[in-house]
Amino acid sequence: MSAIIKKALARKIFNARGEETLEVDIITESGFGRASAPAGASKGKAEVVYYPKGGVDEAIIKFRELVAPELIGKDASNQGLIDKLLHEIDGTSNFSNLGGETAYATSLATVKAASNSFRIPLFWHLAGYLACELPYPLGVVLSGGEHAVGQVPDIQEFLILPVKATSFLNAAKANILFHKKIGILLAKTKPDFVGGRDDEGAWLANITATEALQVISAACDEVCEQMGFECRFGIDFAASAIWNQKEKRYVYAREKKKRTTQEQYEYVTTLIDKYNLIYVEDPFHEEDFESFAKLTKEVGNKVLVCGDDLFVTNKNRLQKGVEKGAANSLIIKVNQVGTVTDAWETVRIARDARYVRVVSHRSGDTNDTHIAHLAVAFRAPIIKAGIVEGSRIAKINALIRIEETLGDRARMIKLPV
Ligand code: PGA
Ligand code: ZN
Repeated sequence: MSAIIKKALARKIFNARGEETLEVDIITESGFGRASAPAGASKGKAEVVYYPKGGVDEAIIKFRELVAPELIGKDASNQGLIDKLLHEIDGTSNFSNLGGETAYATSLATVKAASNSFRIPLFWHLAGYLACELPYPLGVVLSGGEHAVGQVPDIQEFLILPVKATSFLNAAKANILFHKKIGILLAKTKPDFVGGRDDEGAWLANITATEALQVISAACDEVCEQMGFECRFGIDFAASAIWNQKEKRYVYAREKKKRTTQEQYEYVTTLIDKYNLIYVEDPFHEEDFESFAKLTKEVGNKVLVCGDDLFVTNKNRLQKGVEKGAANSLIIKVNQVGTVTDAWETVRIARDARYVRVVSHRSGDTNDTHIAHLAVAFRAPIIKAGIVEGSRIAKINALIRIEETLGDRARMIKLPV
């Protein structure tokens, strides 16, 4: 069996939002790998640049002229070398020449081609026989903010986490049940609810954040009882999206309220206490490491304080966070940094500092299932991959298959909260 690359192709496809994206095929002497790049709607400022100025078309031309010829003859199983090569060809610090999405699709397609060449699953190729722990699925049930339009909550995501599920299959079942119950409760209580959903399959409803949390709370009790294990819930504030730098206020348009940093802090802690939240993502804007640190100190390890836009999977930003004690958890989105190796370096720092890794999809995702494998390989306690929409369920189903592949060795990873 050989993972020597024979051919590398790039094409334009569409993500689940109908946006153009890039797909790469890597063909080795014994195998094949394909990957496509997902896209964010509420991106962090410090993410790599997705595409060169000419968009996907220019990225494809550059892939054909600059990347593909260099890949031919290289060993796809040497991921470090491939990812280093991508950086060298690009020659910038943020992939603005080739495009971060080109780096992502190439890096993932290569690692997939290597695993396929050796006829082993992707997670196994990346992490070996001993990788046998499944992450808990964190699923979005209701959404607002930049993931929606109209009279929706100002908060971007309301999420469920089945913390005491005994298997991934049961965890997925709990999330699906939860999603269904929220839909039923909304239909019963909100006459104008017509079953609308966002890109990630979360419900869209004309409700306030408080109403959303009340509905979720009620559904959570029912799901816990029906499934026979504890489920909790949390929030992605995506606070950078509502932060007004000029006014130095968080602007809650629907609530017609503006909050200072101190008021935001009080709002976040009040919600944590009132609803026993287990997870808060980006409760402050992406440059406010100090408020993250203050909150992390206050909640200890009882609540996951997660940085998404704060860290953007970037090892330098995470290092800064670790030094300041900002957050105790982080989102891992490989396309925020470009390559598998870049993400892995960040994961390693996170593990050493005991930050809880949350491997995540993007709102504009494709049917690719690689993040399911990355979550297991990175030993991430949590995967944030949505619940029922097509490109979300693809990832959930991939984890169900991984659980089956692992058989008796499969276990849910220990959640440190
Ligand atoms: P995205 O953001 O739309 O950039 O993928 C999702 C998130 O903030 O977690
Ligand atoms: Zn986020």
